[in-house]
Amino acid sequence: MGRTFFVGGNWKCNSTKASIASLCSTWKESGAGVAGPPVDVVIAPPSVYAVAAAEQLPSGYQVSLQNTWTGKGGAFTGELSAEMAKDCGINWVILGHSERRHIPTIAESDETVATKVAYALGAGLSVIACIGETLEEREAGNTNAVNERQLAAIAAKVSDWTNVVIAYEPVWAIGTGKVATPDQAQEVHAALRVWLAANVSPAVAESVRILYGGSVSGKNCNELAGKEDVDGFLVGGASLKPEFTAIVDSHK
Ligand code: G3P
Repeated sequence: MGRTFFVGGNWKCNSTKASIASLCSTWKESGAGVAGPPVDVVIAPPSVYAVAAAEQLPSGYQVSLQNTWTGKGGAFTGELSAEMAKDCGINWVILGHSERRHIPTIAESDETVATKVAYALGAGLSVIACIGETLEEREAGNTNAVNERQLAAIAAKVSDWTNVVIAYEPVWAIGTGKVATPDQAQEVHAALRVWLAANVSPAVAESVRILYGGSVSGKNCNELAGKEDVDGFLVGGASLKPEFTAIVDSHK
């Protein structure tokens, strides 16, 4: 069975009530909306806006949080649990984003990310698990080693990959306008599938969706989407704009 194309929009720490209303109505006026396969669309607003955004997004667009806690709720000021997401009708979470790994005051480790992924899955969420190398790591020839290390930490705690989508987001391409070339993305995605086949199972390697993220736009998405192992995108800046719907349509 083919892998359903997937486009995620990560709004990061952006938006206002007014900008969300305006963006959603622009998207809807342009005819956006999905009814499931051949494309899944999942938008991750800042959590305080997630429920309100869910009511305004085009039909069939799903909603995600951008982070959840490592375990169940309790005395963890400022955190959100996976159970709370489910309780609010939110079925997805982005975990391990490079901004959460690399911003020094956040500094999530491979281990923390993996714990969050396993907990969220156990609580019934689907997870967009992000991995990716820095420019320094790429230039040192460590691209695959870094991505495999981050994936291995997750694989050590996850046994059922049905509800996992992997997002390969090279840190040097995020928010920089320096998109990976289609060949660069394909090379890493193919290597990830080889690693999954050897270390998880050939079935998971074949079925898990691997998204590319990093400066994806309405202009560069079609060429990237044409690559065999690119199953969709995790989009930052362009997911706050009208052009996002062109990225959703790039599976066609
Ligand atoms: O999670 C999406 C992301 O980090 C890519 O951001 O703005 O480069 O599309 P951007």
